[in-house]
Amino acid sequence: MKKYFPVYVRVPLLFGLFYGAIEFFVDSGDKPAFIEYPSLGILLMLFLFVIIALEIVGNAATQIVDRLMSPEEREEKERLENLPVTEAAWYKKLMTRLTKSKPMEAEQELELNHEYDGIKELDNDLPPWWVYLFYGTIIFGVVYLGKYHLFGGDNQDAEFKKEMASAQLQIEEYKKTAPDLLTAEQVTLLTEPADLAAGKTIFDNNCVACHRADGGGGIGPNLTDEYWILGGDIKSVFNTIMEGGRDGKGMVSWKQQIKPSDIQKVASYILSLQGTNPADAKAAEGDKYEAVEADAPQTSAEEAPAAETAPEESTK
Ligand code: HEC
Repeated sequence: MKKYFPVYVRVPLLFGLFYGAIEFFVDSGDKPAFIEYPSLGILLMLFLFVIIALEIVGNAATQIVDRLMSPEEREEKERLENLPVTEAAWYKKLMTRLTKSKPMEAEQELELNHEYDGIKELDNDLPPWWVYLFYGTIIFGVVYLGKYHLFGGDNQDAEFKKEMASAQLQIEEYKKTAPDLLTAEQVTLLTEPADLAAGKTIFDNNCVACHRADGGGGIGPNLTDEYWILGGDIKSVFNTIMEGGRDGKGMVSWKQQIKPSDIQKVASYILSLQGTNPADAKAAEGDKYEAVEADAPQTSAEEAPAAETAPEESTK
């Protein structure tokens, strides 16, 4: 390790990793994190100080260990360090480095003077993979503490709220284009002028060919009178436009072309035409719908349903 990462690489590398982690985890806008939060700058300095101190202490410790080594041990160490890569499989080397394990034969050297009922104790080094993992958790812990407890990173609650809000936005976006989930059971009569105007636009674009621009009727029935073949309340009108009229009559289902909330608008628009009594409108068809407008025109249409369509309609 030391061969590939000499101290002048190791220290900047660690420092860079730490700094990168801070920049990554701390949300500081366009500015570097340590400028936005000066205490982070202090933390960085502290970290630099600690790794340099560790290097110095570590260096001193290796020197002491080296001095305490027996000549054979030193020889073995040097041999291992200078081994060409081809001689020892690189992963073997890596493993020894990662675990610092001593071969079984060398156990004698590790033995401590403790023996209890024949059970002896060995003084193994902490395996480096574990030690580095441990350091990693410390760095993680510092960054985590900084981000979530000092600099107000989102806690679970705030994260949840944010996600819900963005989901809400997505739903709004979805509703703009996709067929929405309005059903005949939920539909209500709209009275807002803007909704009725939107309904009129839809009517003008899709329906006038058969129902006439004023709703007076042509191929399709008169939509301005109070007689309805398929029901004159908002739910029935909505349902008729969604699902179409009776088979073979010419009124198709519109739910593929017009989304339910727009059908609600056009249905509301149609109902707003009630009683407008356009000139030479088509004769009434269907049953009289007992709406709230009791003063709807009571013309000759009265007997028309009874005369021509009532028998047919009553089967419906
Ligand atoms: C191709 C011609 C045609 C078009 C286009 C058309 N309709 Fe119809 N519509 C009809 C016919 C025919 C009927 C009668 C259906 C029946 O008798 O079952 C009808 C019935 C209706 C009814 C029920 C009337 C009643 O008395 O119960 C409504 C409401 C209606 N149409 C609304 C619309 C709307 C809104 C559109 C535009 C989105 C539209 N129609 C487009 C032909 C058409």
